[in-house]
Amino acid sequence: MKRVILAGGSGFLGQALARHFRRPGWELVCLTRQPAGGASLPGFRELFWDGLTLGGWVSELNGATALINLAGRSVDCRYHARNRREIVDSRVNPTRLLGQAIRHCSAPPPVWLNASTGTIYRHSLDRPMDESSEIGATPAARDKFSVSVAQAWEQALFEVSTPSTRRVALRTAMVLGFARNSVLPVLLRLARWGLGGTMGSGKQYVSWIHERDFCRAIERIISHEKLVGPVNLAAPQPLPNREMMRELRAAVRAPFGLAATDWMLEIGAFFLRTETELILKSRRVVPGRLLADGFAFDFSTFAEAVADLNRGRIS
Ligand SMILES: NC(=O)c1ccc[n+]([C@@H]2O[C@H](COP(=O)([O-])OP(=O)(O)OC[C@H]3O[C@@H](n4cnc5c(N)ncnc54)[C@H](OP(=O)(O)O)[C@@H]3O)[C@@H](O)[C@H]2O)c1
Repeated sequence: MKRVILAGGSGFLGQALARHFRRPGWELVCLTRQPAGGASLPGFRELFWDGLTLGGWVSELNGATALINLAGRSVDCRYHARNRREIVDSRVNPTRLLGQAIRHCSAPPPVWLNASTGTIYRHSLDRPMDESSEIGATPAARDKFSVSVAQAWEQALFEVSTPSTRRVALRTAMVLGFARNSVLPVLLRLARWGLGGTMGSGKQYVSWIHERDFCRAIERIISHEKLVGPVNLAAPQPLPNREMMRELRAAVRAPFGLAATDWMLEIGAFFLRTETELILKSRRVVPGRLLADGFAFDFSTFAEAVADLNRGRIS
């Protein structure tokens, strides 16, 4: 039996992975601060951890096939001091703790995949960003905080020595799915309400990945020993916001969509308690290492991915 430990596995991506690995020969153990009191899916066990201290859960790591850490408070909020602290702490502390836990194991998992984000790359309108591209903030994109979170997160992953455990930072783009906490239903709702016009200049790129390709890529990383260090989890064709909004309008057959300028987005973001950087930063992230490794995406275009997810929801 292959055992995968999912820290922070109760959310959108953890549940997508739980469904993906729900097949004979795999067992998933979710580390959560709030066990629901029973397995939500067959082959899925929940264990309490607090993300801060070592406990009984550490023994589950011994002999496990893989450790995947997804813990992190949502970044969809206003970036005031308390939220900033929670965003950083909820990522860095669990990552450090898992590094300590691995060092306590007599048979540590051979691979540890830790969430990170495609936001780590610079605001790029001019060219695609693969794993060899420069990381860092761009004042115009107002992304200094988000980039610093990503850097601290990856530093926490790589700072300890884990000689028997390969480490991978999952530089993930926006994952498309319909479950709780996913962005796609929000975007489709906006389009349906006639608010699916271009956002800002519309030239900023959006990187994305279908949830099925996200899960397939995770399985590939677990089994391919060559994949180590940062790996971009993004479909090969990011697209400008203007085109993305057009595809969303087409998906819900919206005849028009009101465009929103930067200042309108600022006001909207204030009332929706979110930040415009999530919309206006140009994320042109491409999956250099996965493609070099021969990974074939099931969904290469945004339109195909949205059509597939919409079909799944209706059927
Ligand atoms: N979804 C995306 O498109 C996307 C893209 C790029 C990166 N990511 C990153 O991937 C990770 C998973 O994303 P997701 O969409 O599945 O997020 P999610 O639905 O919000 O789930 C995150 C999980 O983190 C756990 N968590 C939150 N605060 C914590 C804390 N202080 N200590 C320990 N655990 C904590 C929660 O588990 P419990 O409450 O059960 O403990 C929650 O289930 C996140 O770190 C996110 O930033 C996501």
